[in-house]
Formats: sequence, structure tokens, C-alpha cells
Amino acid sequence: MKALQCVEMGGPDKLEINEVESPSAIPGHVVIDVKSGSINFPDVLMIQGLYQYQPPLPFTPGGESAGIISEIGEDVTKFKVGDKVFAMTGTGAFAEKILAHEGSCTLIPDSMDYDSAAALSMTYGTSLYALKQRANIQPGETLLVLGASGGVGIAAIELGKAMGAKVIAAASTQDKIDMCMAHGADEGFIYPSGNLDRDQQKQLSNKIKELTGGMGANVVYDPVGDSYAEPCLRATAWEGRYLVIGFAAGEIPKIPLNITLLKGCQIVGVFWGAWVGLFPDENKKNFDELFKLHAEGKINPEVSQRYALEDSAEAFSHLANRKAKGKVIINM
Ligand SMILES: NC(=O)c1ccc[n+]([C@@H]2O[C@H](COP(=O)([O-])OP(=O)(O)OC[C@H]3O[C@@H](n4cnc5c(N)ncnc54)[C@H](OP(=O)(O)O)[C@@H]3O)[C@@H](O)[C@H]2O)c1
Repeated sequence: MKALQCVEMGGPDKLEINEVESPSAIPGHVVIDVKSGSINFPDVLMIQGLYQYQPPLPFTPGGESAGIISEIGEDVTKFKVGDKVFAMTGTGAFAEKILAHEGSCTLIPDSMDYDSAAALSMTYGTSLYALKQRANIQPGETLLVLGASGGVGIAAIELGKAMGAKVIAAASTQDKIDMCMAHGADEGFIYPSGNLDRDQQKQLSNKIKELTGGMGANVVYDPVGDSYAEPCLRATAWEGRYLVIGFAAGEIPKIPLNITLLKGCQIVGVFWGAWVGLFPDENKKNFDELFKLHAEGKINPEVSQRYALEDSAEAFSHLANRKAKGKVIINM
């Protein structure tokens, strides 16, 4: 079968499409004929050797896939050949077939296509866990989403709206803001791209306060980090929750703790993958909630670009160069 392979650490130009041996089912596992895989920011970090988990070389990148089960191993109880599933495997998604543990697979509802299923699990899974279990967001509260047109950002906008929040989207270009508004954001504003200096940080804080009537945001959803983090924490409301999602802008920020004292606010870590491992049944309930919201038309994963497996390197560059909006899909 054909598979994308990372044979040496580096940028997307180092990726290769190679002919590799097809997997066979082993006990507890299924083989999926992959139809769609979606790229996430961690995939971009992993091929450069910059992610917290690094598989040995060579490896096939891609943590999320959707397809049809073509083989099942002994002891598999939940699935049969022909089932439509999505799988969260950490790696291996950008290939014609993938071997997946049955515990990493979820049946796709009939109403959902393969691209949407591949686009949904990590982004909406992360954002629902963040807003529900971690922030306990309440109807009427204000939610500020940074990097709002990205994968987890769009999911946070739609879920925030579905949970009754007033959503403010922040992103680096007008066309990204336009897309956030089309996905339900109530307000949107452009922040500068690059390392923010002191004046730009102050302007960012002031803008958030202006849009929240001077109160600050009740919940801040931050997948960007770096110099964007502190000014947003400074613009949280009393007893606000600042969600640490990721550091797409590069640096891990160091925050003066007196801000939390002055605002009675919380800095809340969000590590969805670890939570799924610890509480798979709770995550299953969250997925069921996502399927219901999808069937009701309240969430709608945005797939902005589709690439063939042969063009995977281009797909990686698109995400790495901050050009992606919504989700980027690789179709086998
Ligand atoms: N905590 C968790 O459990 C969890 C789960 C999934 C993902 N994440 C993390 O969340 C972050 C976002 O993931 P994603 O899949 O949404 O990525 P994405 O689709 O690429 O979106 C990231 C957004 O960050 C902004 N950004 C700011 N500086 C950037 C830079 N230097 N390079 C690239 N983007 C930059 C971009 O928006 P603007 O151009 O508008 O600023 C971009 O839209 C990543 O750090 C990822 O590791 C965390």
C-alpha cells in the first residue's frame, strides 16, 4: 500500500510517499481502509521532532482517520467488517490502510461523511472537554477564542455558541475573522501576527475589555500562547477561566502569578488526549453529545482544503505556514 512517511526529521519537504507492507489484523485490533485523514498541529510538530511524543523513524504521520473496517482481529467485540469508523491512533493515518486498536475507534453516525468524521474528533473533542469539563462555561458568559479560525478555534466558537455563550473571535486576518463570523461568532477582531511588543499587548488587552463592556472575558480559549497569553489573561473577568490549549505561536509563556490573585481567576490546563486515556467512558459521552449537535446542525466541521495523499507535503506546508482555515484533509 502507499503511505506517507517521515524518514528524517524536518519540514514537509522531507516527507516521502513510499510503498510499504499493508497491515494485517492482530488480536484486539481492526484494519481500516482509510478514506480521509485530517492534519492537526501536533502532526506538524512531530515531523520536526518537536512534539512531546516522538515515534521512532520511519513513521507514518497522522493521528486522525476515518474509513471502513476491512479486517478484524481475534477478540474484537465492538466492530465488524464493513463498519464505518473514525480512529484516533496518534500516528499512521496518512496511508491507504491503518491498524487500529478497537478502543481507539468510534462508529460514525450515518448522517456524517468521512471528511467530517476525520475533522471532528480531535478539534471538537478538545474544545468540548475544555469548555464543559474544564471551564464549566455558563449561558450568558463571554468566551474569547484566540486563533479562532484554526481547527480547535472554529470548534470552540461553535460549541461556545451551542452552550449559550457570547463568543468573541480573534485572528490574524480579515478573511479568517469573516470565516469565524460565518461559524457563529458574535464579535471578531484582528490581532497583529508575530511577536507582540508591550504596546501591542496593551492594545490587545484594551480591545478585549472594550468588547466586554470593561468586564473582561469570563473564559479565554488560548491555542496560541507566546506573547498573546499574558495580555489575554489580564483581560479576563473576575473569577474568569483561562484555558491553556496550546502554543501555536511558538514560545511557552511565563505568566506573573499576581494576575490570578488580582482577578480571582484560574489558569486551567487542558490535555484532552490524556483525559481520553484516563476516562474513555466520559469521552464517549462527549462524542455522543457532539454527534447530537452535528445532527441538529449546531456544529459543522469546516473543511477548507482537501489534498490527495501524493500532495501531503503541500497540505503540511499549508498548516505550518499559518494559511489554514478550519481543517485540512488528506483523501486516500
Ligand atoms: N490541549 C489539547 O488537548 C490540544 C488538542 C488539540 C490541539 N492542541 C493544540 O492547539 C493548537 C492549535 O491546534 P490546531 O489544530 O487548531 O492548529 P491550526 O488549525 O493550525 O490553528 C492554529 C492557529 O494558531 C494561530 N497561530 C498563531 N501563531 C501561529 C504560528 N506561528 N504558526 C501557526 N499558527 C499560528 C493561527 O491563527 P492566526 O493566524 O489567526 O493567529 C492558526 O489558525 C496547537 O498548539 C495544538 O498542539 C491542543
